[in-house]
Amino acid sequence: MKIFLDTADLAEIRRASEAGLIDGITTNPSLIAQVAGDADPRGIFLSICEAVDGPVSAEVVALDGEGMVREGYKLAKIHDNIVVKTPLTEHGLRACRSLRAEGIRVNVTLCFSAVQAILAAKAGATYISPFVGRMDDVGQSGMGLVEEIRSVYDEYGIETEVLAASLRHPRHVHEAMLIGADCATLPPKVLYQLLKHPLTDRGL
Ligand code: G3P
Repeated sequence: MKIFLDTADLAEIRRASEAGLIDGITTNPSLIAQVAGDADPRGIFLSICEAVDGPVSAEVVALDGEGMVREGYKLAKIHDNIVVKTPLTEHGLRACRSLRAEGIRVNVTLCFSAVQAILAAKAGATYISPFVGRMDDVGQSGMGLVEEIRSVYDEYGIETEVLAASLRHPRHVHEAMLIGADCATLPPKVLYQLLKHPLTDRGL
């Protein structure tokens, strides 16, 4: 399973990348806003891409399909590592289809059902991002969703990668791995929790 870091914090990205712990990065507009200040987000994406040898998800903020495609092209031009993130809406899937036709990779985000996931796959999504923690927040099974998507994609031979997102603790990562998610994205705190074990500390 690939491990992505869900952050736009360059220091955290460099630390994890230099230790060989991560395969890529996911961001969203809130994470970018936390580090951008007055800076141009494109400069931040470029620095992230230069710090990591792997996919870097950069999300569009437009809500209409044409606007998303325009933004997606601009984002994709920043660096070959960029994967454009679009939301799981009709406009988002339309944009996904157009961007994929130009060979641009797309991560379809905000997925909360297996039927949404199959529609994203039909639009050519490279990755589908089910939000585990947010499903748990409303009393539904986030990991059950990952399991359903895994089994539907396997049943129909769909190549879209399952990217378990909104993971809040090591148990989420463990379960996503056992289910066979292709990728898991987690905040830095959870990444370092994965490393810890009391018996490792005692052994030292
Ligand atoms: O990977 C998606 C993530 O950024 C959302 O996480 O914890 O806000 O649901 P959370």
